[in-house]
Amino acid sequence: MAVTPTDVAIDFAALDPGALPRVLVEQARVVWADRVRTEYRSVQVAARFLTEVLAAGEPLDVTRAVAETVEEELRHAELRGRMCAALGGRVPAPREIAAPIEDLGAVPLEERVLASAISLFLIAEAFSVGYLQDLVARAGHPVTRAVLNAIAGDEAEHEAFGPELVARKVRDLPPARRDAWRAFTGRLVRGHLDRAERVLQRLAPEDRRLDRWPEPERATLGLLGEARLALLCRRTYEERLAPTLVRLGLG
Ligand SMILES: [Fe+2]
Ligand SMILES: [Fe+2]
Repeated sequence: MAVTPTDVAIDFAALDPGALPRVLVEQARVVWADRVRTEYRSVQVAARFLTEVLAAGEPLDVTRAVAETVEEELRHAELRGRMCAALGGRVPAPREIAAPIEDLGAVPLEERVLASAISLFLIAEAFSVGYLQDLVARAGHPVTRAVLNAIAGDEAEHEAFGPELVARKVRDLPPARRDAWRAFTGRLVRGHLDRAERVLQRLAPEDRRLDRWPEPERATLGLLGEARLALLCRRTYEERLAPTLVRLGLG
């Protein structure tokens, strides 16, 4: 894989896990190893999407953006792995984390393109940008910040690309089709929000605010507690995703 200047600039040796609380480091190893798995999954889904946009004859700039996404997600998997290793964790091998992804063969091609664009580039990226930006702003350690920054920059680009593509696809749909896509989008968004609401329901009302969960220690290693994650999910939806969906006629 090509090593980009950003990766070269990250001095992983500057991260000394021995200087950090042991429980936190152990937790971080597990989380960063699991993030290798989720980034690997993003590579798989983006690679499938690449074959879909090619088969559908999408404009070349769309194909290029998706091809770049495949490479970026691969880079994220590698960066997450390097962070995990720097923490003394065991980095999972591709063979351990490769899992079959849904076969969309039965879904008509045009629908597959729009379904992937909505689920991946519109919804999943919006939430992950929300979490990443919160961590980038608070990550105390320079290595953590550099890794998160490198990933957040790519994800923000994907997040910008999604609405454009979806807007073009839904523009000419007859109202009944658009209603069906609005329902599809709503179901996916609900999945994220329901998980968050289940967590928030267990909290006292006065604890359902971000400033109650400052978690500076966790932020040092790029971790988010359950409550903070749930609150960020809700905030990302309200501040970023919901307005975009309304603008696209999918909200
Ligand atoms: Fe990623
Ligand atoms: Fe991504």
